[in-house]
Amino acid sequence: MKKAEELLKKYNQEHIIPYLEKNEELEKQVLKIDFEELNKLCLKARNLRIEELENIQPINAINPDKLSQNEKEALIKKGTEVISENKLAVVTMAGGQGTRLGHIGPKGTFKITIGDSEKYLFQILADNLIREGKKYGVTIPWYIMTSKENNQDTMDFLKENEYFNYPKSELFVFVQEEMPLITTEGKLIIEDGLIKEASNGNGSIFASMEKAEVIKDMEKRGVEWIFIGSVDNILLQMVDPLLIGVTLNDGSYAASKTILKNAPNEKVGVFCKENGKVKVIEYTELPEKLSTELNEHGELLYGESHIMCNLFNIKALKRAATQEMQYHIATKNIAGVSCYKFEKFIFDAFNMFEHISILRGKREADFAPIKNKEGVDSPKTAVELYKNYWGI
Ligand code: UD1
Repeated sequence: MKKAEELLKKYNQEHIIPYLEKNEELEKQVLKIDFEELNKLCLKARNLRIEELENIQPINAINPDKLSQNEKEALIKKGTEVISENKLAVVTMAGGQGTRLGHIGPKGTFKITIGDSEKYLFQILADNLIREGKKYGVTIPWYIMTSKENNQDTMDFLKENEYFNYPKSELFVFVQEEMPLITTEGKLIIEDGLIKEASNGNGSIFASMEKAEVIKDMEKRGVEWIFIGSVDNILLQMVDPLLIGVTLNDGSYAASKTILKNAPNEKVGVFCKENGKVKVIEYTELPEKLSTELNEHGELLYGESHIMCNLFNIKALKRAATQEMQYHIATKNIAGVSCYKFEKFIFDAFNMFEHISILRGKREADFAPIKNKEGVDSPKTAVELYKNYWGI
């Protein structure tokens, strides 16, 4: 208790002290907080220091349409071997809250109507993995990342729905890390006797996998390649022999499939090179000048979009799990209070590697995201794309 009190005093968080009495959980929380880091982040947030971009260059993606039939077949064969030998695992990131969609509950529990049938987002992913597994004669180990906020609801939902027929022995749920929320005045927030925390972005996936011993489990199973994708793209191609083949062929430890951005203001991160290393600039941080620049063919110069379709070798995951990742800062209104939210982004791991393979996909085959209730990237637009792809 003494130590927690001292820390709170030292870092100007005295308003928490009265709640400490007979509250072991809060004490534990306080002792776990890295106040120095939090202070640094607050300072950075106040100075509104957006990371300076240095020596930015466009990136070249491999366009499969430009490969010969033979080349393509050879790459697919390489990838197929990996999948058929059960060396591929899939991780679904489902720690976000889906606030923009206005859905109450984990995003994977959102239901869409496709023709005559209704399907949950988790169900679409499970069906996809069951179908792909059958094609290659394997059961693909499937890991789902939740957050403290939605873990129980996710677990209950999956159980109620009998895991959508996914073999229970091959399905694992793990919880991601958290970070305290802090007001723009630099104060921690107390709610129900505890410090209010929130998931700290999908970039915490690497450290969270290590902590939850997911990487160890994968190693035990002989998994070598890990596909990491989002919960909300109903056309996400999680089992893609071409992507794996291209990565193996390049000798890369990580890869990403892109699509071409459809307008300068589309809400997607874009690939580029910074000082020669692969980088994604998130849509919230992309300078207007870069978002509108065109190449000699009149296409967006920074148009290769990050669609959360990422592949990592297990060695790459292990490396990413031990390295510090930067926090990005957003100001959010939470229950009427202006707060800073600190988030790590998965793609910041790319600059840890010498070479990343970038494969160009196709919007109509790879990307039908559900982000908003209505308008662009809504259930309506996503279902339309899904139906077109499957010919429904
Ligand atoms: C994300 C990408 C963006 C990409 C776009 C494509 C990041 C940081 N941004 O943006 O580059 O172009 O998708 O649709 O990756 N999640 C967690 N834990 C968290 C936060 C998010 O697991 O703490 C998961 C969500 O559940 C979701 C995914 O990450 O599956 C994407 O999160 P979301 O906040 O929807 O990202 P976007 O802003 O759409």
